[in-house]
Amino acid sequence: MIAGVVGRSTTGIHSQCNGSNDSIVPAVIVFGDSVVDTGNNNYLETIFKVNYPPYGQDFSGGQPTGRFSNGKVPSDFLVEELGVKDVLPPYLDPTLKIEDLVTGVNFASGGGGYDPLTSELASVISLEEQTELFKEYMEKVKSMAGEEVVNTILSKGLFIVATGSNDVTNTYFNNPIRLYHYDFDSYTRLMVDSASSFLQNLYNLGARRIGVFGIPPIGCLPSQRTLKGGTQRECAKKYNELAELFNTKLAMEINYLNHNLPFVKMVYIDGYYLPLDIIQNPTKYGFDVSNIGCCGTGTIEVAFLCKYTCTNVSEYVFWDSFHFTENAYRIIVRNSLSKNMNLIM
Ligand SMILES: *[C@@H]1O[C@H](CO)[C@@H](O)[C@H](O)[C@H]1NC(C)=O
Repeated sequence: MIAGVVGRSTTGIHSQCNGSNDSIVPAVIVFGDSVVDTGNNNYLETIFKVNYPPYGQDFSGGQPTGRFSNGKVPSDFLVEELGVKDVLPPYLDPTLKIEDLVTGVNFASGGGGYDPLTSELASVISLEEQTELFKEYMEKVKSMAGEEVVNTILSKGLFIVATGSNDVTNTYFNNPIRLYHYDFDSYTRLMVDSASSFLQNLYNLGARRIGVFGIPPIGCLPSQRTLKGGTQRECAKKYNELAELFNTKLAMEINYLNHNLPFVKMVYIDGYYLPLDIIQNPTKYGFDVSNIGCCGTGTIEVAFLCKYTCTNVSEYVFWDSFHFTENAYRIIVRNSLSKNMNLIM
């Protein structure tokens, strides 16, 4: 057993009452992009990095940690909601101790994607490299805590994957290498094939509880409204179409793997319809503004272009023109966990 698992869940998912070990998640391991990166990119030479204000203004101590939001990101809310720990540290942080490692770490890297070209163009950690780092992590835990602990992490830990948006916005629509050679059908096939081999590798390494987020309604991100939504800044239809097509295929592939890989529990987690509902009905969720972000003019700024912010970030669904606020992420994660935990445990 791994020490340090305490029940602080606010969703009641982490049930202490039934006495079953299966209801305890000893560790959370995350792979993906800026939606879930908690600071790995701080250690890279890339422009996809946000370890400076105003990023992190609402994080504990107001620190810019490399999280692409004003505060916590989904990986943090996952460990918080499951009662594992407060925040999920980036694996590349050299100060991590063994107790940080055994309760889970984060391999996500902002700017990455399923398409290998996406991370290459951004000079960030590809999914293949994230897998290599995960292998290194397992060796480290094995040598420091023993094989038993590694086996518990693999069999009972929650593995989460969240990526794919940058493939659509940065690589497909913005790059002739892809746009002229792939239509929607073949490009989403490329993305899903990459997702599938990544997930099978993860399974072969021993992971058994795996949740994979679909991509958001990318056409409704403030930046895409500005660039492709016309003078009225409507949601860019083609971007949403591509996102929906990808999500449908991804869900089918995950369903297939779930039925064909022995002893795995793999689920597709909606990352589209809930965010879309929040964007279309912000007041229902306690927000006022969903078509611009809080930083800068809200229409286009991301990363180093964010120089100033709105006066009250709590009113906003989006932090910058590409990433949600901490409050929006909290709602998305709580909802996703309560819908999917029974499928994964
Ligand atoms: C900020 O916005 C939130 C949500 O609309 C609201 O509840 C709160 O009172 C606002 N704070 C201030 C200082 O205006």
